[in-house]
Amino acid sequence: MSRVDARDKVRGAALYGSDQVPDGLAHAAFATATIDRGQITEVDTTRASEVPGVRLVLTHIDELRPAGFVMGGGFAVQSFQPLTTDRIAYKGQPIALVVADDPVTATYAASLIGATYVTEPFAVSLDDPGATAVVQEEAIPLPFLKDIKFGDADAAIAGSDVRVEQTYDHPPQNPAPMELLASVVEWRGDTLVVHEGTQNAAAVRNGLAQQLGLDASKIEVISPYLGGAFGQKNSLQNHTGPLAVAARRLGRPVKLVLTRPQTFHSGSFRPQSRHRIKVGADRGGRLTAIVHEADQQTSRHDLFPATFTEVSSRLYGVPAFRGRQRLVQTDVQTPGYMRAPFEHPAAWAVESAVDEISYQLGMDPLELKLANDATHDPVTGLPFSSRHVSECLRRGAEMFGWSRRPARPGSWLDPDGAQIGWGVAIGAYPASMTPAVARVTANADGTFQIDVDGHEMGQGIRSAIALLAAELLEADPALIRVGVGDTRVATQHLTAGSWGTASALPAVRAAVLELRPQLGGTLPVTVTASNGLPEAMVERARTGLVTLAGPVYDSFVTFSYVAHFVEVRVEKGTRRIRVPRVVSVADCGAVASPVTAASQVRGAVTWGLGAALREHLEVDSRYGGFVNATLEEYPVSVNADIGQIDVDFIDKPDYQLNPVGVKGLGEVSMVGVAGAVSNAVFHATGRRIRKLPITLADLL
Ligand code: MOS
Repeated sequence: MSRVDARDKVRGAALYGSDQVPDGLAHAAFATATIDRGQITEVDTTRASEVPGVRLVLTHIDELRPAGFVMGGGFAVQSFQPLTTDRIAYKGQPIALVVADDPVTATYAASLIGATYVTEPFAVSLDDPGATAVVQEEAIPLPFLKDIKFGDADAAIAGSDVRVEQTYDHPPQNPAPMELLASVVEWRGDTLVVHEGTQNAAAVRNGLAQQLGLDASKIEVISPYLGGAFGQKNSLQNHTGPLAVAARRLGRPVKLVLTRPQTFHSGSFRPQSRHRIKVGADRGGRLTAIVHEADQQTSRHDLFPATFTEVSSRLYGVPAFRGRQRLVQTDVQTPGYMRAPFEHPAAWAVESAVDEISYQLGMDPLELKLANDATHDPVTGLPFSSRHVSECLRRGAEMFGWSRRPARPGSWLDPDGAQIGWGVAIGAYPASMTPAVARVTANADGTFQIDVDGHEMGQGIRSAIALLAAELLEADPALIRVGVGDTRVATQHLTAGSWGTASALPAVRAAVLELRPQLGGTLPVTVTASNGLPEAMVERARTGLVTLAGPVYDSFVTFSYVAHFVEVRVEKGTRRIRVPRVVSVADCGAVASPVTAASQVRGAVTWGLGAALREHLEVDSRYGGFVNATLEEYPVSVNADIGQIDVDFIDKPDYQLNPVGVKGLGEVSMVGVAGAVSNAVFHATGRRIRKLPITLADLL
């Protein structure tokens, strides 16, 4: 019983949001804008309305109030609400919602909707004319978004024996979860019930309450499983409000599944970013300072903030650091959080530059990393509650066989003519916690029900919860039922930022420990306990707003860590890059669920390889929007791309962070993979590629 919901998932018994089929279900489809920016002058719905089976066509919804931007006291990453304005802010923006008796009719009718526009000039990437840059700490004066600075980094670099000053370009990318953005919305009396794959049922509930002018107690959001989310499903989506209005007007439940291209154009994505990195070192191999200046794309209407330097300032024990983050406004839907949103690009850039320094020094990159580990948090001066990055490096090097690596780049040839290269990089990710409340019931039949804040998006949170409870109760995990992702059983605050397990498990532990002494008495018995975060945070979570603690706590700082070792082979002639072998060792505190944890790391490494070698959301500077908005043309890693991925864990509990000793794992596991690939490509070929993805064209 190492994966408690695996059997349901493989049998199709696990029902996802859009699997629900309430009686009388009607089906919706969007018509979308064909321009990138401007004003709608007319939407022609005549032909669509005449199609037999069409029940409703909405082009403008008056009764929908703004949901607000999730990072500014609101509930949505896409705070711009289509169908409430004549403005077009990005290509692919919905301009009409068609509801019909069946999905084919709805889709066909939507295709008959025509519109006329007044177009305006637009920018879709960092370098387009009209893209406007703002300094983040001035535009959004919040303490956690301030530029991180300590010591005099520029002077230290100027005075260093060796230095690297380079620019690293990261493309926009899309999380492309297998489960599309989709909802089934039904009114049961005056209660609105939303079935939707979401990481944040509380925001969907409270955001819809605000949009529709309802009391949140009149809305339930049910999201037992997600087919991947990766940040794209972390808030109220902009299709859900219109769907609720349509369902109310029709008096029927309504289902909408966005198409894959629509999901690419409506969902949040990893924005384009550019990283100017400076690193200095002395001849002995001590890093003297790091400078990280980053530009990140945002939308015209929202400032999606960046926290690249939270991690780039803490990869090493440097005495000086200067960060500067700018946001560049472009005419796209608002970008958002996508697995290791800032940590992956930041670590790729810094780990590339540090690798470059190692060659200038003639020093093994592994030795350089070990010589520059941090003994305390360089930003705050506080101790780390745990930091086992050197152990990750040593164990990974041993597993990988790093000592057999020839030092000289471009010197290692396979008998088939391929160039072989080995690269190493580290990653870090903040260990945050959010309020969670668990309710545990012991039933007379020997089963247990555990309801808690959390969402299951494939990471295995039910397994982690059931395994902990089973151990503490000395019970068979098969007797434990776990309720997550459902506002009827718990608040369901946002599950993201790799804080899910570290937040839910301490609450479950507290409740189970309180329950245990009562097991000899009359059953059923129920107890409720929180994970100990302040009551004010629990209250804020109930309002659907984001609240979190860490990674800087009162007396310590906590991050998760990982080390990746990658082998690449660059084929002769074609210059195709293959990755036959990866070794990854993670420090995530205690490993709560060994089987799902190892899967998390393998998935993250697979994604890291895709980010390094495949994924590039192509923008069209002529017409706007994204060109390759399908899974055919937006290539993600598939089985054929994946070689051997060996995973290990340090597995040392961090009891300062919480009594279960768990930190986060899902995102840190991806951080550094792209750096290790870039560094391996350099070791194989002697060519330093400072953009992603690295393609064979870069090596011809
Ligand atoms: Mo994650 S990108 O914090 O949902």
